Amino acid sequence: MPDTALARSFENIGDDYDRYRPGFPASAASVILPRAVPAVLDLGAGTGKFTELLLDRARRVVAVEPSERMLQVLRAKLPVVESLIGTAELIPVADASMDVVTVAQAFHWFDRDTACAEIGRVLVPGGTLGLLWNHSDPLCGWDRAAHRIAHPAVHEQDSTTDSADSALPGFDLWGHDELRWRERVSREHYLRRWSTVSSVLVADDATRSRMLRAIEDVLDDHPETRGRTELELPQITDVYVYRRR
Ligand SMILES: C[S@@+](CC[C@H](N)C(=O)[O-])C[C@H]1O[C@@H](n2cnc3c(N)ncnc32)[C@H](O)[C@@H]1O
Repeated sequence: MPDTALARSFENIGDDYDRYRPGFPASAASVILPRAVPAVLDLGAGTGKFTELLLDRARRVVAVEPSERMLQVLRAKLPVVESLIGTAELIPVADASMDVVTVAQAFHWFDRDTACAEIGRVLVPGGTLGLLWNHSDPLCGWDRAAHRIAHPAVHEQDSTTDSADSALPGFDLWGHDELRWRERVSREHYLRRWSTVSSVLVADDATRSRMLRAIEDVLDDHPETRGRTELELPQITDVYVYRRR
């Protein structure tokens, strides 16, 4: 079961999340939707960082998200998207009305079995479920060190991919792609990004300041980041494609 406090940590951010979090490569959307479909639902859509890649791949794009603050940003950016307050466990969409459901960086927050049953309900028979996560590159020492500071309980284990099983209830895994890309970010931007991460959002003020200071120390000390105002951050996007049984 996901940690409710962490899952709800996004309720009160919107603009900062949209400004500082990385997006996704367009190829991630192509892996899930190699050709256009009538209707796609982006679940846990947040501010629409993945939703925007769906616009030219479906006639109808629906975004479902529990946080009003996140949806406000999505609505301002993507007015053509149908945006609905809702959760993965209770999706406010009719039975068999979606060809594809996508979940970017959010499936680990869902109650897996209930969400899979709901996703199965709204998908057409044989419909597609695409799950994706951005990850740090294990070879990037300074980013790994920052992850260890922000997620001390997780250490080297990757909590998010644990949620992507070869068979989810009612679904079969059809494919997995690992997409590698690079992001150029300023040091300032990278540091602010950490303030939008759930474990940092829910920390008390003293712990949050200590974490952010420790991440600054990593950038000050590491040979690839010391003295640099611009950083080259390698990113990995893992994409899992399932078919409804
Ligand atoms: C890390 S953000 C990802 C947002 C967006 N998909 C993206 O990739 O930028 C996780 C999102 O999942 C949402 N969320 C948390 N629990 C959820 C649930 N049970 N059902 C649907 N969305 C949920 C949060 O409100 C948040 O917007």
